[in-house]
Amino acid sequence: MIEELKRGLTTRSPEDTEAAGRALAGELPPDITLALSGPLGTGKTTFVRGLARGWGIRETVISPTFQLYAVYDGDRRLVHFDAYRLESPEAADDLLIEDFLEPPYTLVVEWPEKVAPWLPEPCFQLLFGITGEHRHIILLNEEMP
Ligand SMILES: Nc1ncnc2c1ncn2[C@@H]1O[C@H](COP(=O)(O)OP(=O)(O)OP(=O)(O)O)[C@@H](O)[C@H]1O
Ligand SMILES: [Mg+2]
Repeated sequence: MIEELKRGLTTRSPEDTEAAGRALAGELPPDITLALSGPLGTGKTTFVRGLARGWGIRETVISPTFQLYAVYDGDRRLVHFDAYRLESPEAADDLLIEDFLEPPYTLVVEWPEKVAPWLPEPCFQLLFGITGEHRHIILLNEEMP
């Protein structure tokens, strides 16, 4: 899945996008950050739902709203952070997210541009976009630019 995502993977349904996340989960090294970039409604949260399934997490991932982030435990700890409503990058420090990064973990951040200076390394970037009706694209960059 890593190689497919590096070339750019087109998905034709939310189920496809979830399946891609599930497949990637098994290939990701532990203790990394995944930065999910892309406009509203491009499938970022849908993809995280698949990652969670891949790590045997039973709860369904929903968009973190009031709390901005949520912690899910499975074969690996998933910390899902949606920075969309964050006031400033400095405000990320107050959330104490680092305290929840117990190995093996993956920190997944939606709207990473809002917290760019804060993102823990190593960080990989996934770009999400829409190319047509129900056609979404996901592209993996090995390092944040
Ligand atoms: N191929 C596809 N892959 C993913 N989602 C799709 C696809 N086709 C249609 N959709 C729809 O697009 C929407 C994607 O929503 P999702 O919440 O995953 O996006 P998001 O990028 O997390 O948005 P936000 O920036 O608001 O958090 C869902 O309503 C989903 O049903
Ligand atoms: Mg989302």
